[in-house]
Amino acid sequence: MMNRKVISLAAIAAISVVFAACGGKKEESAAPVAAPVEAAAAVSGKDLYNGKGGCAACHGETGKGDGPTGVAVKAANFTAGFKKGGDLAGVSATIKNGVPGTAMAGYGAQLNDEEIKLIAEYVIELSKAGH
Ligand code: HEC
Repeated sequence: MMNRKVISLAAIAAISVVFAACGGKKEESAAPVAAPVEAAAAVSGKDLYNGKGGCAACHGETGKGDGPTGVAVKAANFTAGFKKGGDLAGVSATIKNGVPGTAMAGYGAQLNDEEIKLIAEYVIELSKAGH
């Protein structure tokens, strides 16, 4: 009886370690293992912008720089055009590397190149929708 309990506790501990190891990126470590796989299959730039990327918190859902924390940090309003280069390569580079000296961090560590491209396409779409 006692032994079985110890064994199952050990098994739970081992599973938790595997979970933590597979979680990869820090925000995802608490999510079920299946989630990142699903996300990779069907994720859109919009999902990433509003979800995992956390862009909407500053830039706002419509990209006007009016997200909950966007006003205080003077987040860019995409509908007003891009200072850093508005083509796919330019926007992707900004997302990847950030804008030093501002609240715009680089996302190269959190998002892979494919995710950055999807978000960049969506950001460009938002910038056009505002006109
Ligand atoms: C903590 C707030 C914050 C978050 C979160 C954030 N940004 Fe920014 N972002 C800024 C600020 C502030 C600037 C303006 C930097 C400057 O003054 O040049 C900026 C600038 C930009 C620019 C350059 C705009 C231009 O004029 O060329 C792009 C593109 C951009 N952000 C995309 C994103 C994307 C995509 C995400 C999510 C992956 C994101 N940002 C997340 C604050 C944020």
